[in-house]
Amino acid sequence: MPTTVVDNIGTLITNDPGLGEGLLGIVSDAAVVFEGDRIVAIESAGNADADERIDAGGRCVLPGFVDSHTHMVFAGDRASEFVARMAGADYEAGGIRVTTAATREASDDELRSLTSARLTESARAGITTTEIKSGYGLTVDEEARTLRIAGEFTEETTFLGAHVVPADYADRPDDYVKLVTGDMLGAAAPYARWIDVFCEEGAFDADQSRAVLEAGLAAGLGVRVHANQLRPGPGVQLAVDVGAASADHCTYLTGADVEALAGSSTVCTFLPAADFSTRQPYPDARRVIEAGATVAIATNCNPGSSYTTSMSFCIALAVRDMHMTIDEAVAAGTIGGATALRRTDIGRITPEAKADLVMLEAPSHHHLVYRPGVPLVARTIRAGIEV
Ligand code: NIG
Repeated sequence: MPTTVVDNIGTLITNDPGLGEGLLGIVSDAAVVFEGDRIVAIESAGNADADERIDAGGRCVLPGFVDSHTHMVFAGDRASEFVARMAGADYEAGGIRVTTAATREASDDELRSLTSARLTESARAGITTTEIKSGYGLTVDEEARTLRIAGEFTEETTFLGAHVVPADYADRPDDYVKLVTGDMLGAAAPYARWIDVFCEEGAFDADQSRAVLEAGLAAGLGVRVHANQLRPGPGVQLAVDVGAASADHCTYLTGADVEALAGSSTVCTFLPAADFSTRQPYPDARRVIEAGATVAIATNCNPGSSYTTSMSFCIALAVRDMHMTIDEAVAAGTIGGATALRRTDIGRITPEAKADLVMLEAPSHHHLVYRPGVPLVARTIRAGIEV
């Protein structure tokens, strides 16, 4: 198989402290060799032979971003809700029903092409792995359909039939939970790796959420939870209790929540662009990191609370407003996301990892925050192929 070397890298972020300096395992003046879709060696600049050579010209190279929380399969637009929020309105879970109506109306081809356009945008922004949730179908057939379409783009698919109670079940939410944990799960499971629930006032309470997650576990799915987004609540502790890979949002955390996360393998996934777009306060990331929990950052790309595909923007928010260091935030958007997906083959530039690399039009990763809003991703290589 032909080999390629990315040579003359000014700052290489490996995410392996054994290979270089600090949390990010930074190697200066480096080269990365890959063969097919796998990395085979990290060398010093100018020292590696390969069939093809890409000259990084002293730029920064880091692992492709891992976006561990998105809702990318949807139709319709909710810009008017965003405009109302910027004028003082609150974010409400009920907006999900608006997108559900538009998504049900869209054909398979329309949904495919909308999803593909969003993923092209995110690849240009350096994202090489994307988790995609359902949750805008909310019937047996529509949840299976949207997951099937998501599965055409990623192996990281998540069944989120318990996103909100649809209008036709509004006065009998427990019947909807029975549907989600029964026929809907049966139809969705063949297309899903994960199950998720929106555990929040206005969506699903602790008992309903536990029933959904336990049914998913019994069907062989891994577990993730939308937790503590709009107010303090039981989501984080439930996530830890059922052994979820990730508790996502974590905007409102009590001391007990932080302690529970720190004593568990559940990743605390922050979604700062959602806090930005819904005018929520930003969570205190320092408290979580200092307690010893593993953290991730994801875009949460969706039409209601966070319509962005920019991990760089999320990293900048996490540094500016959540007081993470730049190194912590870059780790959270790469290896943190990988851990939230329980993956060890992505989010790092190490021998045997997937050849997912991003080259910045900048000498260091600091520029991701120092130059906010500037599209600094010069090249994205996914599984050894430039995208
Ligand atoms: O993660 N909070 C629940 N789900 C999404 C928002 C969905 C929507 O408003 O359409 C989120 O923020």
